[in-house]
Amino acid sequence: MGEWTLNSWQNYVLKQQPVYPDSAFLMNVLQTLSSFSGIVRIIEIEYLKTLLSQHSHFILQAGDCAETFDDCHSASTSARVRCLLRMRSILETEAKLSVLILARMAGQYAKPRSFPAESINGLLIPSYRGDLIHSFLPSASARIPDPKRLLLGYYFSKRTLCQIKSIFNSASPNYLLDQSPLMAHKFFTSHEALHLRYEQSMTRKDLQSNRYYNLGAHLVWLGERTRFLTSGHVEYLRGIENPLGIKIGPSCDITELEKIIQILNPQNQAGKLILILRLGIKECTNKLPHLLQRLKSYNVSWICDPMHGNTIKMKNEIKTRYVHTILQELIENINIFHKVKMPFSGIHLETACENVTECVGLDVSEKDLIKNYLSYCDPRLNPVQFKYLILGIVKHLGKSDQNAQRVCAMNKFQKQRLTL
Ligand code: PEP
Ligand code: CO
Repeated sequence: MGEWTLNSWQNYVLKQQPVYPDSAFLMNVLQTLSSFSGIVRIIEIEYLKTLLSQHSHFILQAGDCAETFDDCHSASTSARVRCLLRMRSILETEAKLSVLILARMAGQYAKPRSFPAESINGLLIPSYRGDLIHSFLPSASARIPDPKRLLLGYYFSKRTLCQIKSIFNSASPNYLLDQSPLMAHKFFTSHEALHLRYEQSMTRKDLQSNRYYNLGAHLVWLGERTRFLTSGHVEYLRGIENPLGIKIGPSCDITELEKIIQILNPQNQAGKLILILRLGIKECTNKLPHLLQRLKSYNVSWICDPMHGNTIKMKNEIKTRYVHTILQELIENINIFHKVKMPFSGIHLETACENVTECVGLDVSEKDLIKNYLSYCDPRLNPVQFKYLILGIVKHLGKSDQNAQRVCAMNKFQKQRLTL
């Protein structure tokens, strides 16, 4: 590994990067973006790292698979924030946990895809890669990457964050005590660090510490498809101070993962890494105990994403997930962590605040899927389904010893936090 620079990732293997027809225009846009102010603040990023390093909070990472520009208005932002707060409130009330929210919000606009093309109404067109890249409209011309969308992505991320801050501001005038309304509510933003040119343009050097921060989100994560040793994504991420997530899928090679952990967190610093397990129900029972055994000396938080390892395609090509499979993987994870006496620290869900019919279970049958399928990408849980899921894991969470420590932390922090 050579010296890290803002663009040293360009010397590594690059996957999932859009190809723009007009590169001069792209360069112009990127230069403009790098002159803009950050979306989040360094103090907020450092505060998140401090909270994570305490290992006393349960992490709730949730939100849309793909946010859309159209959805960036105050009614939608407010509904999405309230949805996350409702999930937190169930965990706090029922499991007596102190919860930290990592919203998949204010920048979750770029999507990795397993296939370069998709068939829509019999027409084969480039797969949708997120509003940051191109339009969702089903035509080949709409799917050409457009640099203007990077500016829009910045604008809509900033606007969403301002809307979130104003929701918390109006709810609690005391937020100034904690310097930021987001911090007062232990509410942070996150997205996959996928579009490296965009992520680079959001990266700033802190003149006090001479360190680099991605000011596009508090936490960014390394996706399943870009997690390999020679990846440009790993190279980019090793140079920034933000806490990082790493998705871990069923094909993950543990030796390679261990090397990536060492590259991203060479000092084994607490609060730096969240390992996001998405093994799927078929693999988690076999693979997880061994994985935990091998990696137990690393100072990381372990959370479970029970969504991405359990996606299936129906005969009519609609993607879905079964609520009972999602619940099963979560319970299996919690039980395995309990057995090996390691703390299970949170959940990662794809959720919608509307009554969507994207996952099968409870009020949604397979036949219902077409009724209100609104997701631009992966199927999300509707409010009835995520409530059922959270209530379903509460009694299992209660078993762990770590939970007892979190209850103490909860009592301590509850005094400071204001509920909406
Ligand atoms: C996602 O979180 O939306 C995603 C694409 O995840 P993964 O990289 O785990 O497939
Ligand atoms: Co997804």
